[in-house]
Amino acid sequence: MNASQIIEQDNQYILGTYGRNQLALTSGQGARAKDADGKDYIDFTSGIGVNSLGFAHPAWVSAVTKQAGLLAHTSNLFYTTPAAELAQRLCEKTGLSKVFFSNSGAEANECAIKAARKYSFQKYGKGRNRIVSFVGSFHGRTMATLTATGQDRFHQYFDPFPTGFVYAKAEKEDFLQKAQRDVCAVLLETIQGEGGVVPLDPEFLQAVEAFCKENDVLLIIDEVQTGIGRTGAFFSYQALGLSPDIVTSAKGLGGGLPIGATLFAEKCVDSLGKGDHGSTYGGNPIAVAGALAVLHELTEEFLQDVSKKGEYLKEKLLSLPQVAEVSGRGLMLGVTLVGKAPQEVVAKGIAYGVLCLTAGNKLRLLPPLTITMEELAEGVDRLSKALADEGQPS
Ligand SMILES: Cc1ncc(COP(=O)(O)O)c(C=O)c1O
Repeated sequence: MNASQIIEQDNQYILGTYGRNQLALTSGQGARAKDADGKDYIDFTSGIGVNSLGFAHPAWVSAVTKQAGLLAHTSNLFYTTPAAELAQRLCEKTGLSKVFFSNSGAEANECAIKAARKYSFQKYGKGRNRIVSFVGSFHGRTMATLTATGQDRFHQYFDPFPTGFVYAKAEKEDFLQKAQRDVCAVLLETIQGEGGVVPLDPEFLQAVEAFCKENDVLLIIDEVQTGIGRTGAFFSYQALGLSPDIVTSAKGLGGGLPIGATLFAEKCVDSLGKGDHGSTYGGNPIAVAGALAVLHELTEEFLQDVSKKGEYLKEKLLSLPQVAEVSGRGLMLGVTLVGKAPQEVVAKGIAYGVLCLTAGNKLRLLPPLTITMEELAEGVDRLSKALADEGQPS
């Protein structure tokens, strides 16, 4: 099938919930993707922060295919070796104590919300159940995580939404005003990804953590987008010196297969017990084998390289006349453009062979962590042509 036939079939049979680019990708290698017509693209999206090692990384492909040939799925009625090993690796990398596996970022956050409420219920009884999240945040598409998302545009049409959520601005006064006595947890991203790659002030984050510790309010850090090396640290909170009670991960952890993980500090490992939570696919051996392959690549040296690549990309972007500002860290960057609509630049980028994302009113770049300096330079070169093109996107 050629690209237009694929697009026509998709449009006819798949629910129209996505604003898709008019592009059908068929294969990829590292940071390069190919479309159905054989055209090549530099990938600055990594499947929205998922393909940490790029397309078809040999170690990842080998781990996943080997596991598929051994044992694809068992359910959680049985023990399997990959899940226990991944949980141990995650605990060793963070100093956290236990992990619950699911299949997505939203599910990882749902688990965190349930755990925080039960922790509080067990210690303080009924009614202390509110979660504070931040204006501009994004935490998922399930009913609870959509409600936790601090953006009004997501809170339409689907009434009734779950209760027990409140949104604070990311500044001390408003936070303290919203964090009332019925609060059991604070849920935050250190850099708001979908909200426009907006880093929260490190001093403010320290103040939030101090408040949480003082009041036995659980600090949940959503590392779904920022985690697994994306910002140059294994988890972004580690570079900020924070010690959360619960950490959620997904996206880049699986390197291309669906996985979610909720990590618990010792203090709250007993909040969810037998029968309190579950997921048929959680800890699926194939997804976990992919995640182990990702973690194997993420050495200290690899993470330092991510930071260097991020600095290089930032510098290159800031040299373009249409770029006013670049936010974010590592390979999670938000680009403020002068006189250009980000969505239009994404469409033009496709014409010039570079794949980009948007977030809020910015262009967002999340290249695979394995991208080379040469590929970064080539991608920015293609992007600069897209930015300079004054015509209508085709
Ligand atoms: C910070 C954050 N949390 C949660 C989610 C939801 O993840 P998923 O789409 O895997 O459910 C996302 C997705 O973009 C995210 O960026």
